[in-house]
Amino acid sequence: MNKNSKVLALKYRPQNFDDLIGQEVVTQTIVNSIKANKIPNAYLFTGIRGVGKTTIARIIAKALNCTNGVENKCKIKCDNCDEITNSSHIDVLEMDAASKTGVDDVRDLIEFSRYGPSSAKYKIFIIDEVHMLSKQAFNALLKTLEEPPQYENGGGLKFIFATTEIKKIPITVVSRCQRFDLSRVKSSELFEFIKKIKDKEKGKISDDALKLIVKISEGSVRDALSLLDRALLSLDKDEELDLNSAQKIFWIF
Ligand SMILES: Nc1ncnc2c1ncn2[C@@H]1O[C@H](COP(=O)(O)OP(=O)(O)O)[C@@H](O)[C@H]1O
Ligand SMILES: [Mg+2]
Ligand SMILES: [Zn+2]
Repeated sequence: MNKNSKVLALKYRPQNFDDLIGQEVVTQTIVNSIKANKIPNAYLFTGIRGVGKTTIARIIAKALNCTNGVENKCKIKCDNCDEITNSSHIDVLEMDAASKTGVDDVRDLIEFSRYGPSSAKYKIFIIDEVHMLSKQAFNALLKTLEEPPQYENGGGLKFIFATTEIKKIPITVVSRCQRFDLSRVKSSELFEFIKKIKDKEKGKISDDALKLIVKISEGSVRDALSLLDRALLSLDKDEELDLNSAQKIFWIF
């Protein structure tokens, strides 16, 4: 896939804490705790679709394992960050609980936690849509959370969970995590964000049309970027997309 054919949500996926919008309190707390070396065994992120749960999980994995330290934001090239960005780091396992059966996820978890990290400081297990795990898998998880394995390098095993449905996660698990509730992104902030991206993409879309996109997105950055993708694709050369045409594209009458 060439760079231009990437969907906007992937092309503009935040690569460090500063790139994120709307989650400043959360990211500041996380950065401070990493700097102070008070790193929880498990992070838990909740919030609606497209507000940065998976993105933040990867950024934390990088911040914990970056060879340049969290303050540098990895401006100097580092293999750990590169591999985590490409989802190819041997010590960082990402699992989507929505697409796994109970038996598999328990086995993956136990296998993964058995040995210490190969090339990074921390071994990190990211579980997306964690509320979908089976009872059996939650039990295995609890055991590991209560007695995290000790590795020789002193780095240890860290969990990062993300969910849109916090109520479906056993309280015993929630209480062992540092929990962060990600908020919907404010309209004004989302508007400025997609307007900048529209300009970078050299699209012509009126402010009113952009405001419609923001409204439909209900605070979800991913939704806003997907709608912007559609709006940009619908443009004829030199024509500006106005509110009226935007309403037609998005079926708002
Ligand atoms: N807080 C944010 N700041 C900037 N972009 C964001 C933010 N949250 C989501 N995005 C955009 O939406 C896409 C999907 O985000 P993701 O982290 O997968 O959402 P979630 O896991 O909460 O559903 C990202 O690739 C990025 O382009
Ligand atoms: Mg996600
Ligand atoms: Zn790095």
